[in-house]
Amino acid sequence: MAKRVLVLNGPNLNLLGTREPGIYGAHTLKDVETLCKQTATELGLTIDFRQSNHEGELVTWIQDARKTADAIVINPAAYSHTSIAIPDAIKAVGLPVAEVHLSNIHQREAFRHHSYVSAAALGVICGFGVTGYRLALIALAEKLK
Ligand code: DQA
Repeated sequence: MAKRVLVLNGPNLNLLGTREPGIYGAHTLKDVETLCKQTATELGLTIDFRQSNHEGELVTWIQDARKTADAIVINPAAYSHTSIAIPDAIKAVGLPVAEVHLSNIHQREAFRHHSYVSAAALGVICGFGVTGYRLALIALAEKLK
């Protein structure tokens, strides 16, 4: 059976395409979903692609992934820098997680240099724009072999 990957996007990523395009690029979240679906097809994965502006909803989706997914890609957006609940949920479910950031958070404001999620993630990809999602899916497909 095809391995299932849950792709989660945090707050404000619904505005991609118009949101600070100099930092986040011109691609919309729909473009990211299309890229993820194409990549998943190439890799023989199935994906469930979601976005929420609410921390608790992301936590619930991570918890539900225990029964519905084999791995998770997450761009926690601003919650990367503030949330304890998201890494706790990741540790609770025990699934391999790839953390993605479109921008290179280490080149930006100091408050973006630390992500609480990273300690719970298998790996982190940042600075490659939407290609980061593709790289994350490739890395997880290898891990799930
Ligand atoms: C982001 C980086 C975060 O610092 C920011 O809050 C975001 C997006 C990124 O993809 O580069 O919303 O996760």
